[in-house]
Amino acid sequence: MIEFQNMLEKNSKEIDRFLDSHLPTGNGLNSKLFDAMRYSSINGGKKIRAYLVLETGRFIGAINNKTLSMSKYNELIAVGSAIEAIHSYSLIHDDLPAMDNSPIRRGKASNHIKFDYHTAILAGDGLLSWAFQIIGDSNFIYNSKKRSDISFVLAKAIGPNGMVGGQQADMDFAKHKSIDLNQIEWIQNHKTGALISCCSHVASILLNASHDQKSNLIDYANHIGLAFQIADDILDLDGNEVSMGKPIRQDTKNETPNFVTILGKEKAAKRALDESSKAINLIQKFKQGSENLVSLAKYTVNRNN
Ligand code: IPE
Ligand code: IPE
Ligand code: MG
Ligand code: MG
Ligand code: MG
Repeated sequence: MIEFQNMLEKNSKEIDRFLDSHLPTGNGLNSKLFDAMRYSSINGGKKIRAYLVLETGRFIGAINNKTLSMSKYNELIAVGSAIEAIHSYSLIHDDLPAMDNSPIRRGKASNHIKFDYHTAILAGDGLLSWAFQIIGDSNFIYNSKKRSDISFVLAKAIGPNGMVGGQQADMDFAKHKSIDLNQIEWIQNHKTGALISCCSHVASILLNASHDQKSNLIDYANHIGLAFQIADDILDLDGNEVSMGKPIRQDTKNETPNFVTILGKEKAAKRALDESSKAINLIQKFKQGSENLVSLAKYTVNRNN
């Protein structure tokens, strides 16, 4: 686990370097926007989505007996960084008073507290648009068909039938006592699972994975996505605020239904573990190079932040 956390840390630094080098800076009239975009994306978060992009890429190389070239590695880092920018945007908006109303994120003041409400909304918008600017840039992704395929898959994953749709239902069904487990699962798969599963999808596009490889990797990431959100719900109940860098009991305060509120902690933990095991089984079918993706599946349900 320590070794895995070191790898995650190394990946996180690499993503921070990319974000720091390429996010806009300047002293113009909009400089506060740049500061706010940087504040909530660089030097914070586990960056597991970028890690999943990179490791899916490495894994596809390994099962096809190819080592990852530097140019492919750089493409994976660019796409992983764009996805982390999108994830950071989703968290800035998620913390706003109109949504979860959470004052702390990643161990420091949430964006709207550090800056102000309009800046937080616009910093989220800025990170989202910047991500697509990176993906559309031929300096970062060399093949035009791949640029367009990745844009399509990513836009679909985070849009009204993906992450944003999930967030809408998450908000609308808060305080609804009658919501059932299937509906919760739908919400979780959309608000969190869609972007996580997209990480394996975009890496499959970049690395020319076969149809079978791609569908197994997307299924793997779907299980990881659900396990990840259930683990987040359990941490929300009894995690450590210092290691998590965000307040606990947000879901209780907001009456946000989740796996724990419906099933109780033990059954929810068992479900998360089942999802993680299913992810591992899918990846181990391939026999070689699966260690890091297996470690990620284990870490997903066995983490303290
Ligand atoms: C938090 O995501 C929001 C969820 C989808 C559960 P992470 O736990 O990946 O947050 P960071 O990026 O590490 O801060
Ligand atoms: C957030 O889920 C999901 C997205 C931002 C898309 P949560 O509301 O559970 O995330 P935390 O607990 O605030 O990190
Ligand atoms: Mg939320
Ligand atoms: Mg929240
Ligand atoms: Mg949560």
